[in-house]
Amino acid sequence: MYKIKAKRLLAPSIYLMDVEAPRVAKSANPGQFVIVKMDEKGERIPLTICDYDKTAGTVTIVFQTVGCSTNKMSLLKEGDYFSDFVGPLGQPSEFIEEDIEALKQKKIMFVAGGVGAAPVYPQVKWLYEHGIAADAIVGCKSEDYLLLEKEMKLVTGNLYIATDDGSYGYKGLVTDLLKDLIEKEGKKYDVVVAIGPMIMMKFITQLTKQYGIKTIVSMNPVMVDGTGMCGGCRLTVGEETRFACVDGPEFDGHLVDFDEAMRRSTQYKSQEGRAEIERQE
Ligand code: FES
Repeated sequence: MYKIKAKRLLAPSIYLMDVEAPRVAKSANPGQFVIVKMDEKGERIPLTICDYDKTAGTVTIVFQTVGCSTNKMSLLKEGDYFSDFVGPLGQPSEFIEEDIEALKQKKIMFVAGGVGAAPVYPQVKWLYEHGIAADAIVGCKSEDYLLLEKEMKLVTGNLYIATDDGSYGYKGLVTDLLKDLIEKEGKKYDVVVAIGPMIMMKFITQLTKQYGIKTIVSMNPVMVDGTGMCGGCRLTVGEETRFACVDGPEFDGHLVDFDEAMRRSTQYKSQEGRAEIERQE
């Protein structure tokens, strides 16, 4: 059993939980995910790791209530338990494998949309702890939905905020802000990491392709049970078929077939929708 040590509402319908899971915390790396289950019969929910404390033995997860299971999860309180907390799963961020001195020569920009700020944070933090200050753009609907600003500020070189309604920071989409930074402010980036809604990642990759900037995306949104067996996270990357939960979740964004991935995730959403209706009946 895995105890919830702390729980916080970060924004409307978005929760953070610190979970006691020493073995997961010990081997966790940025970019990886865990699968949680509330009870024996519960759905397996894959969630990216937002942070980990190897000394305290805790792993931080962030989730948004999007259906039956996540709604139920949001009712758990500090002191409650998950019956399963499996991980770390998936491949760590590719930065972990790179030569640190070579990495220090690169200008890296992270673009996070909505709850994408949660999986971006451990990557930016890891780079910062290795002497690399990456820039980041965090985009959301409005100021109320902005996640982890304080934490991100501590570990980024420059942090840019974009809100759809202009209630905080730049008014507009993260794509437009990135374009402005490159074209109007003359910023140069060697790598962009985009994590957020599929449509956002699609447009970011279209933009960075024009500038020839290598772009990594996290295909977390297509994961269903994270086991490598359901086939729900199947993607076409270049000419190859890949599975987000086993081969990813991060891929070369310029090679991902986003239209196909979006069609598949819509199918998944309708299943969640059906589960939500059943719950309410
Ligand atoms: Fe089921 Fe990847 S989520 S195979």
